[in-house]
Amino acid sequence: MTSTMAYGVQIAGVGSAVPSKVLTNADFEKMVDTSDEWIVQRSGIHQRRICDPETESEYTLARDALKRALDDAGIDVGELDLVIHASTTSGFLCPPSAARIAAGVGPTNAGTFDLIAACSGLVYGMNIADTLIRSGRYRNIAVIGCDALSTITDYEDRTLSILFGDAGGAMILTRDDDSERGCIYQTMEGDCSRWDLLYLPTREQDVVEWDKDNPIKIGKLRMRGQEVFKFAVTKFRDVIQEALKQTGLSQEDISQFVCHQSNARIINAAKQKLGLPDEKVHINIQNFGNSSAGSIGVVFDELWQAGKINRGDYVVFVAFGGGLTWASSVWKI
Ligand code: COA
Repeated sequence: MTSTMAYGVQIAGVGSAVPSKVLTNADFEKMVDTSDEWIVQRSGIHQRRICDPETESEYTLARDALKRALDDAGIDVGELDLVIHASTTSGFLCPPSAARIAAGVGPTNAGTFDLIAACSGLVYGMNIADTLIRSGRYRNIAVIGCDALSTITDYEDRTLSILFGDAGGAMILTRDDDSERGCIYQTMEGDCSRWDLLYLPTREQDVVEWDKDNPIKIGKLRMRGQEVFKFAVTKFRDVIQEALKQTGLSQEDISQFVCHQSNARIINAAKQKLGLPDEKVHINIQNFGNSSAGSIGVVFDELWQAGKINRGDYVVFVAFGGGLTWASSVWKI
């Protein structure tokens, strides 16, 4: 969908937060039957960050990311109209955890809601926020993508556990008089028939057909890794190609492709197929693993703080995850 509305949107500030505890591949070698070589070869991951349950949580990461993004934007939390928080691991159903996070930064009357779209969450949130600001009804919206997957990871499941880490990222989106600025194309799509490929059973009766005979743990993520892999490899490429086609932009016009960090092999396969240069596809999965809704925010913050995102640049955001969901968002910065 392309945009025709009266107002533009600018990314006024960006921030991220990762936990202090580092879990390396060598640590996994002591926990399960695996090797550093296998993990690096299959996923590109060397280490991930996980919360210290005594002092850190999805809440502290989201709060710290929001505070940093507000500081970066020079905007007070009291000036926000809305806070959208994308997460699968907040642990809160009531109130919206976005309310607690915003209050953790300072007093505000912002509207708050949570959004669950698995790893696609932050890009869904950006798309929604852009549309709301362009409508003229909202001026300043914070979008947070954050997950502490360590809380729902079965560390005895060697195939799944090695992939995941904890992290959060936030962006402050504000109204801009230049209507050309902001999200110029967006998609939020899915294949709902494959919802069971990546799921979190919270009750015995939620266990799906393919998983019935497996030794599973309630409250821990379950995934058909190979099938998710096959889907993701082609979907990544197709979503980028479609975004370029619909906007009439070429790869050369794009300054950065900000991709969900699911697996380095998945990102590299799309990169090779489309012929994208290394400097336009920032990969940090080697340091943080797959942090679900947090990953895009951390990648973007690294690029932003390094001065690699400039006014007038075109940036493509692409994410996919459980649902199956996927989303794209093309921005003129
Ligand atoms: N260490 C060593 N061996 C392992 C292992 C580990 N941590 N995990 C699995 N294996 C073994 C398997 O038991 C299997 O052995 P077998 O051939 O004797 O049966 C073999 O390695 C291959 O397993 P497989 O599951 O086919 O591996 P894979 O190449 O598909 O890689 C993933 C596994 C999870 C890395 C890969 O499927 C993947 O990245 N999928 C996408 C996941 C994803 O992106 N999810 C998030 C979406 S947002």
